[in-house]
Amino acid sequence: MPNPPLRLLGIPGSLRRASFNRGLLTAAQRVCPDGVTLEIHDLIDVPLYNGDVEAEGTPEAVVALKNAIADADGLLIASPEYNGSMSGVIKNAFDWVSRKPSPLGGKPCAVISASPGGAGGTRAQPPLKMMLHVLGAELPPLRQVAVSGASGKFTDGALTDDTTRDRLGTFMSGYAAWLMRHEPA
Ligand code: FNR
Repeated sequence: MPNPPLRLLGIPGSLRRASFNRGLLTAAQRVCPDGVTLEIHDLIDVPLYNGDVEAEGTPEAVVALKNAIADADGLLIASPEYNGSMSGVIKNAFDWVSRKPSPLGGKPCAVISASPGGAGGTRAQPPLKMMLHVLGAELPPLRQVAVSGASGKFTDGALTDDTTRDRLGTFMSGYAAWLMRHEPA
C-alpha cells in the first residue's frame, strides 16, 4: 500500500451526461487498489482555446484544471474516439494546459477508452499518447484498456460488465505499482 496515498486525477474526454468514457472513470474509482484515490475532473467549463482570451488572463476553469493536474500523482484520461482520433474536448483542454507554466512535464498519464464500436476507441489512444509525449508527460507501459461494444456494457453511464471491471482493476493495480516504482521528474 502506497505511503503517502497516491492521488490520481481522472479526465473524461466527453461532456455527455451518460458518457461511456466518464463511466469508465467512475468504474475505475471503484477498483482502485488500497491507498489510491481517483478524483474526476470534468472539462465542461473549459472554453475553446483563444489566444485573445488568454492574453486577457487564463480562464478560471483552465487555472483549476492546471492546479488539479499539478496536485495529482498521475492522470487517467478516458477519451472517446471521434473520426479516428481523440475528442476535440480533450485536445482543446490540453492545448490550454500546455501553455506555460505547464504541469505536464514528467507527469504520469495513462489513457483508456470506450466506444460502442468494435475497436473500443483504440484509434483515439495513439494520437492522444503522442500529444502527451510531445508535452513531456510520462506514459506508463500498461496493457491497453479499450472497451468495445460499450452500449451493452454500461447502463445510464455506469459499467455493468464484470469482465471489463476485472480488466480495469488489473490496469489500475498495474498503474499504481508503476507509480510506486516511478521516480518523480
Ligand atoms: C463518433 N463515434 C466514433 N466511434 C468510434 O469507435 N470511432 C470513431 O471514429 C467515431 N467517430 C465519431 C465521431 C463523432 C463526431 C461522434 C459524435 C461519434 C462514436 C462514439 O464512440 C460514441 O458517440 C461514444 O459514445 C462517445 O463517447 P462517450 O460520449 O460515450 O464517452
